[in-house]
Amino acid sequence: MRRKLTLLLFILVFVNCRKQPAAPTGLVVDKAMVVSAREEASKIGVEIMKKGGNAFDAMIATEMALNIAYPFAGSIGGGGFMVYRKSNGDVGSIDYREKAPLAAHKDMYLDSLGNVIPDKSTVGATAVGVPGGIAGLMEVHKKFGSLTLEEILEPVIQLAEKGLVVTENQARRLDYAREKIVEVSGDSTLFSLKYVAGDTIKHLALAKTMKTIAKEGHDGFYKGEIAQKLATFIQEHGGYVTEEDLAKYQAKWRQPIIFNYKDLKVISMSPPSSGGVTMNQILEMMEPYDVSKFGHNSAKTIQLFTEASRRAYADRNYFLGDPDFVDIPLDVLLSQAYLEERMANFSFEKATKSSELERGNIEVIESMETTHYSIIDQEGNAISVTETLNGAYGSKLFCGELGFFLNNEMDDFSAKPGVPNMFGLIGADANSIAAEKRMLSSMTPTIVEKEGKLWMVVGTPGGSTIITAVAQTILNTYEFNLSMQEAVNAPRFHHQWLPDMVIFEPEGFSPELKEELKEKGYIINEERTPIIGKVDAIRVLSDGKLEGGADKRGDDTAVGF
Ligand code: DON
Repeated sequence: MRRKLTLLLFILVFVNCRKQPAAPTGLVVDKAMVVSAREEASKIGVEIMKKGGNAFDAMIATEMALNIAYPFAGSIGGGGFMVYRKSNGDVGSIDYREKAPLAAHKDMYLDSLGNVIPDKSTVGATAVGVPGGIAGLMEVHKKFGSLTLEEILEPVIQLAEKGLVVTENQARRLDYAREKIVEVSGDSTLFSLKYVAGDTIKHLALAKTMKTIAKEGHDGFYKGEIAQKLATFIQEHGGYVTEEDLAKYQAKWRQPIIFNYKDLKVISMSPPSSGGVTMNQILEMMEPYDVSKFGHNSAKTIQLFTEASRRAYADRNYFLGDPDFVDIPLDVLLSQAYLEERMANFSFEKATKSSELERGNIEVIESMETTHYSIIDQEGNAISVTETLNGAYGSKLFCGELGFFLNNEMDDFSAKPGVPNMFGLIGADANSIAAEKRMLSSMTPTIVEKEGKLWMVVGTPGGSTIITAVAQTILNTYEFNLSMQEAVNAPRFHHQWLPDMVIFEPEGFSPELKEELKEKGYIINEERTPIIGKVDAIRVLSDGKLEGGADKRGDDTAVGF
């Protein structure tokens, strides 16, 4: 009897320990937090909340500040997606993705022989889609803002005028892009100059643009003088965006993708982003397995995740596109029966070959030119935002007079079925180009509930690797009991169906592990690979405090109170 009791006690303690959430290792605060790519932007978001603003006000301030602090990915000339969960549990999302201009058409990046013209969808004015950033922020302000635009933008405009100190990372990135920026935008713009860490860059033209927006809102950007200058500038450089395109642009509220993974409820972005659908497929295909028993980044976990990703990305590339233009069979793609069937031929003994799922032979190229930020305010409202110019400094076209870079988002379309874009993603007809269509995205701003309560806000840049990086961060915390900061720091891997290879981050995966996977038929990218994603996340602890996970891979910083 005593032995039985001791055993029972042991089991209880063991089960309890297993359920005990990981102690935090990131910044912990009581009430409100912003985690973003730069400390200056996180601070401005927090300042707005201290003034009494809510998470939505903080979103506008943080995102506008990132245009200064992280011009690399600033959404004023680009676009993004936001998923929210209000303190009363209401959820929703807004799509402020760029659109193809009215002059766009299916074959616009092909030559007379039907071949893709190099660089036309990636570099310079021809690559620019109609920007959605300001429309998104103004729409959020209209619906949920509690402070005036002037109040929100005041510290941002001050930051633009005072200038921002260049970090080592920023100097390196600028150095890398400078030649192309000069080639596209000339040698007399703000970013044609050489900067070293410690220099200060003042954004006076952008400050002026922001003052107009603070006064006139959406129309201050999409109509009138700014719109006219922007359209003329893009066209003078050979691009297609007109005043009419700008006047017609509207952000769209969309129903997010919502699904359960074990006892989590995941709320993520719906098409035209593939993020929510593809992550839903990956996690649902993994759900029948007791992943926590396999071990974090063990061969079995990597195999299962890779095989689920392989199947999900194959679907992504074929079925997904702008829902206003194509019918996406979401009910089938996300049904349990379909996903079980997809995994029917999976075995831990041997890798599935992507060629058995579909054909193709392509190369993946990485870059880090999107940015994600996560916010929770003192009331418990949460927002998750990923925004982008697509490539590094977008098309490299910098509008000196208005003070910002323009996107090269047109490359996220499939210029020709079967031909990879800059992320090695191949597309099909669902993501072909059409006037006013939104290009398919991988951005995955996500909010997770546990037992009905807000638990995590998470997202990352990283092109096609965004979806797998977000899914791994959730699994790291939920299945492997890492703290928020540990989950963000943990080494990541990626598979996207084609090319048929597993990419590992440079640090953190042993040669023995890779050997074991190779023996099972996995093709491993043997060259030194870049980092995968830059995750910025927040976890709500059981006592209600917030733990930040700011990615150590960049200058990312959590700030809060
Ligand atoms: O929307 C997308 O999926 C891409 N334009 C994101 C680009 C990106 O994340 C670049 N940075 N790594």
